[in-house]
Amino acid sequence: MLDFIVDEQVCTRCGECVADCPARIIAMQEGVPEIAPDKEASCYRCLHCLAVCPTGAVSIIGVTPVSCKPLAGTFPEPDKLEALIRGRRSVRRYKPENLEPQLLQRLLDVAWQAPTGVNSRDVLFTVVDDRDKLVRLRADVMAGLGGLVRENRLPEGMEFFANFVKLWEEKGVDILFRDAPHLLIATAPRSAASPVPDCLIALSYFELFAQSLGVGTLWNGLVKWGLFEILPDMRQRLGIPDEHVIGYAMSFGKPAVRFARSVQHGQAAINRVSV
Ligand SMILES: Cc1cc2nc3c(=O)[nH]c(=O)nc-3n(C[C@H](O)[C@H](O)[C@H](O)COP(=O)(O)O)c2cc1C
Repeated sequence: MLDFIVDEQVCTRCGECVADCPARIIAMQEGVPEIAPDKEASCYRCLHCLAVCPTGAVSIIGVTPVSCKPLAGTFPEPDKLEALIRGRRSVRRYKPENLEPQLLQRLLDVAWQAPTGVNSRDVLFTVVDDRDKLVRLRADVMAGLGGLVRENRLPEGMEFFANFVKLWEEKGVDILFRDAPHLLIATAPRSAASPVPDCLIALSYFELFAQSLGVGTLWNGLVKWGLFEILPDMRQRLGIPDEHVIGYAMSFGKPAVRFARSVQHGQAAINRVSV
């Protein structure tokens, strides 16, 4: 039941909701937008109809226009956004303190707004929200990897993990987690239309929003491989559902490094199609 409600006093019959519906299930009935009961199951629940309505006449699935923020004039200046994209860097040195819980919650809630295929919205964020937990997790991961190194059982192609274990055991240098206080793992159900892209987009949004708030981030392939391709029990230990695909891992926390300038990586590689 979608509860598609149109306030007929407010609706101008402009047809924007009809035109913008990706499932094309809204139709004008006697001049008023309507979703026929037999079309309801095709709704993406994307809320485009509500968002596009210029006068705030449309409510759906219990969401009303008054509960939504107006958009006009709220986007960042393009130059600022460009500076953020160009100035974002991988952070590999972190302060030991945890992020404030409200800040962490805000980062996760905002990143979770990222688009998902067919609006499935089922990316799951598994988060290590406390450095003490990460320290315990790291001890177990390093012990597990160390055992495999000594038994010569690192999977083929992953033998280089022996170097990281050695550095950790002999010098306390953590190449895997980079001594970040937090870790975020995005996963999504295998049955979703596009589980891995959904996770990568959500993490990309997380990264940019985090860095705009002075929080450092690092895409962490080593953690992804180490935890999910080498150590089989980590998925269960972290409470990640069996039916989920691992999207990616990201370390984050307050940076102990400050970048003074952005660098130029040159122009985009472009293949302009001529047909
Ligand atoms: C998918 C992906 C996986 C990465 N994995 C790691 C990693 O495991 N450890 C690490 O130190 N950096 C990792 N990085 C960071 C890259 O090395 C880094 O993005 C690149 O050197 C460019 O530097 P920048 O991010 O500061 O622009 C990863 C980056 C991406 C996009």
